Amino acid sequence: MSGTPDFFYREAQRLGYVARSAFKLLQIQKQYKIITPGSSVLDLGCAPGAWLQVACQNLGPLGKGGVVVGIDVKKVKVPSMHCDERVTTVCADVMNLPREQVRALSPQQKGFSVVLSDMCPLVSGITTRDAALSAELGMRAIDLAVGKAAHDRTVNNAFEEVQSDGSGSSLGIDGVLQPGGHLIIKLLESEDVKEFSQICKPIFRKASWLRPKATRSCSREIYLICQGFQYRVRE
Ligand SMILES: C[S@@+](CC[C@H](N)C(=O)[O-])C[C@H]1O[C@@H](n2cnc3c(N)ncnc32)[C@H](O)[C@@H]1O
Repeated sequence: MSGTPDFFYREAQRLGYVARSAFKLLQIQKQYKIITPGSSVLDLGCAPGAWLQVACQNLGPLGKGGVVVGIDVKKVKVPSMHCDERVTTVCADVMNLPREQVRALSPQQKGFSVVLSDMCPLVSGITTRDAALSAELGMRAIDLAVGKAAHDRTVNNAFEEVQSDGSGSSLGIDGVLQPGGHLIIKLLESEDVKEFSQICKPIFRKASWLRPKATRSCSREIYLICQGFQYRVRE
C-alpha cells in the first residue's frame, strides 16, 4: 500500500471500526441482509475484530438476543466500540477444530444461523500458492458449516427437503449451520473458485459472487454469498 491512508481506512478510523474490512461486511449486509436481530453468528478468522463490530451492530437491541462468536489463530480482544456482551472470541486454528467443538459454542448447541469466513493465509505473493491456501481455508469453512451436505450433492434426487426444527441435529445435520442459514466465504480468485459455487449452488437457495468496493484494487479476493441453506436428507 502507498503511504497515504485510503478512504476506507480513514472512514474506519472516523467511525470507530478497528479495520477497513468493516466496509466489506457493511456492503454485504446492505445488499443481502444476512444478519438480522437475534441471529447467531460464527465469524471465522475474526482478527482484529471489524466484522465482530458490524455483526453485533446488526443484532439489534440487547433484548433481541443473538450472539457473535469469533475464532482466530490470533488472540482477539473484543473491540469496545460497536460490540456488547453478546460478542465472544476464541483463539484456535479453524483447520484443527472439530465441528462438535464449534457447535458447542453456539446457543443451546443448536448451531449458528450465519457463518462468516474472512479467513485468509499470510500472503506470500506467489499467486497460485496463495490461492490454493485460501481455497483450503474456504473448504474448511464449508465443511464446518454444512458437513456432509457438501459431499451429498451429486445424489440430490434421492433427497427430500426437510423442515427446520431449529437445531437440525435430529435430522442428521452434522455441520454447524442451521437449516435456512447463510454462509459467506472469502476466496482468492483462481480456477478453483468454480468448485465452490458448484458445491454451494445445489444446497443453498441462492449463491452469488461479490467483490466489495472496499477490496483493494491489487487484491484478488472475492466473496461467495450463500443464502438459505437447504438441507436434504435421504428418506
Ligand atoms: C483478513 S483477516 C480478517 C479480518 C476480520 N474479518 C476483521 O474484519 O477484522 C484474516 C484472518 O484470518 C485468520 N486466519 C487465517 N487462517 C486461520 C486459521 N486456520 N484459523 C483461524 N484463523 C485464521 C488470520 O489470523 C487473520 O486474522
